[in-house]
Amino acid sequence: MKKYDLTIQATICQPNELPEELQALVNQAKAKTNDSYCPYSHFHVGAAVLLENGVVVTGTNQENAAYPSGLCAERTAIFYASSQYPNVPMKAIAIAGFTNGHFSPEPCVPCGACRQVMAEYEERFKQPIQVVMYGEKNCLCVSKVEDLLPFVFHRDMLE
Ligand code: THU
Repeated sequence: MKKYDLTIQATICQPNELPEELQALVNQAKAKTNDSYCPYSHFHVGAAVLLENGVVVTGTNQENAAYPSGLCAERTAIFYASSQYPNVPMKAIAIAGFTNGHFSPEPCVPCGACRQVMAEYEERFKQPIQVVMYGEKNCLCVSKVEDLLPFVFHRDMLE
């Protein structure tokens, strides 16, 4: 028998303590929350993906009367990025959530399905994707998706 004792690396900081490039990415995710279509949850999520070529692709959550047909902001942005720039690695993603007239005070963390999708592109390009989860009081940052999803399901398991 073997026991695993996993350690993940994460940073919690004030938004203004983030490096400039990430503050700019967070600001784009925050601004994008205005374009969310969320008539059911009223939880407006914005995501901004920074690509290796410097392009930033943004996305929002898109809800649907048939609830499971909707999609999270992170996946909207990532799938759009991968469709428009199929061969360009993703460097970072920022996520922000807004409801009841204010941004979430604590970090807006991605759901499990979004973590799985992020992990796919990290693995595909063999390059870490930094994840910045915005909260008005605290931001949570990890330098790679793997830190948010240990024991991830990867493509090599299909072989
Ligand atoms: N949502 C996201 O856009 N990203 C997440 O990672 C968590 C949840 C959206 C989905 C739904 O439209 C709303 O937030 C409430 O769950």
